[in-house]
Amino acid sequence: MVAAAQDGVNTCEYHPKTVSVDLRESWRIRDVEIPTRLVLAPMAGVSVQAFRRQGRRFGAGLVCSEMVSCAGIEHRNERTLGYLRVAGDEHPLAIQIFGSEPRAMAEAAKLVEAAGADLVDVNFGCPVRKVTKTGAGATLLDEPARACAIVEAVASAVDVPVSVKMRRGLRDGARTCLEVGPRLVEAGAATLTLHPRSAQQMYTGTADHALTSELVSLVDVPVIASGDITSRAKAQTVLATTGAAAVMVGRGAQGNPWILREIVDGDGRDPTREEVVAELVLFIRETVRELGERRASSFLKKFYGWYLGHGRFPRPFKQELVVLDSTEQVEWLLIAAAPGALPLLELLEAELPGSDEVLLDLPISVYGGG
Ligand SMILES: Cc1cc2nc3c(=O)[nH]c(=O)nc-3n(C[C@H](O)[C@H](O)[C@H](O)COP(=O)(O)O)c2cc1C
Repeated sequence: MVAAAQDGVNTCEYHPKTVSVDLRESWRIRDVEIPTRLVLAPMAGVSVQAFRRQGRRFGAGLVCSEMVSCAGIEHRNERTLGYLRVAGDEHPLAIQIFGSEPRAMAEAAKLVEAAGADLVDVNFGCPVRKVTKTGAGATLLDEPARACAIVEAVASAVDVPVSVKMRRGLRDGARTCLEVGPRLVEAGAATLTLHPRSAQQMYTGTADHALTSELVSLVDVPVIASGDITSRAKAQTVLATTGAAAVMVGRGAQGNPWILREIVDGDGRDPTREEVVAELVLFIRETVRELGERRASSFLKKFYGWYLGHGRFPRPFKQELVVLDSTEQVEWLLIAAAPGALPLLELLEAELPGSDEVLLDLPISVYGGG
C-alpha cells in the first residue's frame, strides 16, 4: 500500500514535490491482481459492458458493474440477469449487488461468482430512496449488525474476494464509516471503497478524503478512494495523502474515457473529433449488441451530450442526435460530421478481442442482444 505523506494528511493539499505515486503500479486484493491504481466506478444506468471494456482499454485496472438487485437475481428477473454478462476482456471485474437479507445476498453472490466476476462488491452506499426504503444501500451503515451479517454470509458463500462500497454515513458530518468499516473487514471484506459524502448529501458538496485517510489507518485491507477524482493531480494527491491503494473515477469518465489515460499515464492530450466519434460509434454498436436496439437507443441519449460536450462539437449537434429514432441514423450523422473517424473505428474494432463471454444457464433472451 502507498505510505501516507507526512504533511497534508487531513487537507489533501497538493505538494508536487512530495507526490510520487505510480498509478501504473499493480496491487492486489487477496489473489486478484489489479494492474493499475485506477478503478472505474460502478454507476447505475452507465456501467454497461461497453463502458467497462472501454474503461479497461483506457487504463482502469479494475472495472465494476452497476448495482444489481439481489431480489432480481433471486427471482431470475431477465433484465437483472442480463447484468451478469461478463466479457473476456473486462477482467478484473467486480459485480456489485444490493439487498438487505444476508441469505438472499449470499445466493446472489454465488451466481455473480459463477458469472465470472473476480470480486463480489456489496453496496452500502446507495442513497436513492427506492433502494434505502427496502433496507438496502446506505441505510445499512446505520445497521452495523445486519451489514456485518450480510458481508459474512456473502464471504462464506463465495471463493472470490468480497468488497464493500460505502458512504461516510447517512447524515451530513457522519463518521459512521470509521466505526462500521473495521467491523466489515472483520466480517470478511477484503477491500473497502469509501465515497466520503453522506447519503443526505447525494452528490452535492465535496468528498472529504480526510475520512479516507482515517479509514486507511484503521483497517489492514486496501482502501479505494472514490469521489471528485477528476484529474491526475487530484488522483496523485488523494493517493499520497490518504494512503489509499487506488482511486476510483465515476462522473469524470462519463463520455470521457480519455480522462483515464490522463490520470494513469499523464497523457493529457485532448482527443480529436475523429477519435471522439470513433469511440462513440464503437460504444453505440457495443451497447446495441448488449441491450438490443430498442433499449440501447434511449439508454444512449445521455451519452451523446457527454461525448460531444467538452467543447468538442457545437451544442445543436447533440440536439440533432437525441431526437433521432434509430442508432443507425445517429451513427450516420456522427460519421458525416467526422469522416476521418471511419478508419479509426475499423482499427478499434479490429483490435477488440473476440467475444468470449461466460454464458450461464440463463434464459436465452438474456443473451438476445449479443
Ligand atoms: C449516475 C450515477 C450512478 C451511480 N450508481 C452507483 C451504483 O450503482 N453503485 C455504487 O456503489 N455507486 C454508484 N454511484 C456512485 C459512484 O460510484 C461514485 O462513488 C460517486 O459518483 C463519486 O465519484 P465521482 O465524484 O468520481 O463521480 C453512482 C454515481 C452516479 C453519478
